[in-house]
Amino acid sequence: MEVRLLYPNEIPPMDLLLLADPSRELVEAYLQRGTCFVAEMDGQMIGVYVLLELTAETVEIVNVAVAEQYQGKGLGKQLVNHAIRHAKSLGYVTIEIGTGNSGIGQLALYQKCGFRITAIDQDFFTRNYPEAIYENGIQCRDMIRLSQTIGIK
Ligand code: COA
Repeated sequence: MEVRLLYPNEIPPMDLLLLADPSRELVEAYLQRGTCFVAEMDGQMIGVYVLLELTAETVEIVNVAVAEQYQGKGLGKQLVNHAIRHAKSLGYVTIEIGTGNSGIGQLALYQKCGFRITAIDQDFFTRNYPEAIYENGIQCRDMIRLSQTIGIK
């Protein structure tokens, strides 16, 4: 798998981006403000993440996703670790990520990549999404915020 920047003239892989966030509006806003990376295998886009600057010292990984047929093979972990390395190389001090309370696999993955839970944005999903979201039989209501220190101030 090769991870690279999405070229400015390329169409972002919306099908993959929407796996991570059902709101096309939010995805498009992230794409406007952030930097999109894609993962390719045999010339096909199979993964994506967007890195979004929050402050001069902090970035957030948003919209990390792997195509369904490639999930569970370690590629998500490679993408998250790529984002951490890239953010570190740019001199950021903190990297953040958020996921829903129902995202059991995501919470496992992010903690395995060194993130720790720092906050909970209660009712984030019920406030921001018109339709109820269910995952693992749990309603997704709250945003679990995770972060890790990757540099020195
Ligand atoms: N319990 C414990 N560990 C779990 C787990 C669970 N329920 N689900 C996943 N994991 C672990 C895996 O075991 C693996 O750890 P390991 O390498 O130590 O074995 C780790 O999480 C990541 O697995 P990986 O195969 O790299 O994940 P992936 O390629 O399937 O990618 C996602 C993960 C989340 C990117 C992918 O499932 C996806 O695209 N989902 C849909 C979009 C999405 O929800 N994005 C996140 C938005 S917050």
